Amino acid sequence: MDEKRFSTKPSNSSKDVFDFYDLYAESWDERFGDTESVREFHKIRLGTFFKIAELAKGKTCAELGVGTGPYVTEIAPLVKKLICVDGSKGMLDVLGKKVKHLKNIQLEQIDLSKPLEKSPFKVDVLYFFGLIEHVINIDNLMENCKLMLNDGGKIVVISSNGLSPWYHGLRKPFRVGIHCSSDKYYSRKSLGQIMIEHGFNEEQCIFWGFFPAGVKGIVYNILKVVGTCIEKTPLKKFGGGMTISYIRP
Ligand SMILES: C[S@@+](CC[C@H](N)C(=O)[O-])C[C@H]1O[C@@H](n2cnc3c(N)ncnc32)[C@H](O)[C@@H]1O
Repeated sequence: MDEKRFSTKPSNSSKDVFDFYDLYAESWDERFGDTESVREFHKIRLGTFFKIAELAKGKTCAELGVGTGPYVTEIAPLVKKLICVDGSKGMLDVLGKKVKHLKNIQLEQIDLSKPLEKSPFKVDVLYFFGLIEHVINIDNLMENCKLMLNDGGKIVVISSNGLSPWYHGLRKPFRVGIHCSSDKYYSRKSLGQIMIEHGFNEEQCIFWGFFPAGVKGIVYNILKVVGTCIEKTPLKKFGGGMTISYIRP
């Protein structure tokens, strides 16, 4: 199954969201195909994370909404322990098969949209690639993050940028649109407001992604050059992706 043929799932609950990801779990990693733009997309997305996260061998980390874990085999060897959390059993099953050889991994099936009484773990770095857009209750997610984070720890959010024109109709001719009807897109500002309400301050922000993953040929080459120019201007705030770290003062 590729992104062009996903059908948007009507969703009101986490169960609806997990049903969507369970359905596509087996083919998730192939959804954009294997093109130069996809490889570049993953390289940039992961690169911005490494730039901001300050990983170290002594640190414990948790990736929330890990899905099939496209970056787990690269991140795990750099840290002491990596806990991989997702609510979809299907996605975790696919990930489980890929990480059998890694000794410092723990998989946890948790609905992060529901308030936890206490966290099953505490870590130094919490991060999520493409999770916040799909969480039904972001306030509960952030309160859960507080329970999961050690004092002095940080959160790194890698997400779509709600300010990008791509999410306001531009992608319609190329893709299905949103995965679930409850999906939401946040801008740096709207997410920052939520983070402040939960006691977190922004530390660093990088905007990135000026071509969509999966785009091919001449269109990819043109958008890549245009993106390189935009990145040096204030227009970079309209990039498709943003990577932002938050700390508690
Ligand atoms: C768009 S996928 C991203 C997967 C992966 N991080 C990646 O970049 O390919 C979103 C993931 O978030 C998970 N998710 C959504 N809502 C969740 C929730 N309330 N609790 C836990 N996981 C959730 C989904 O099951 C899915 O695996």
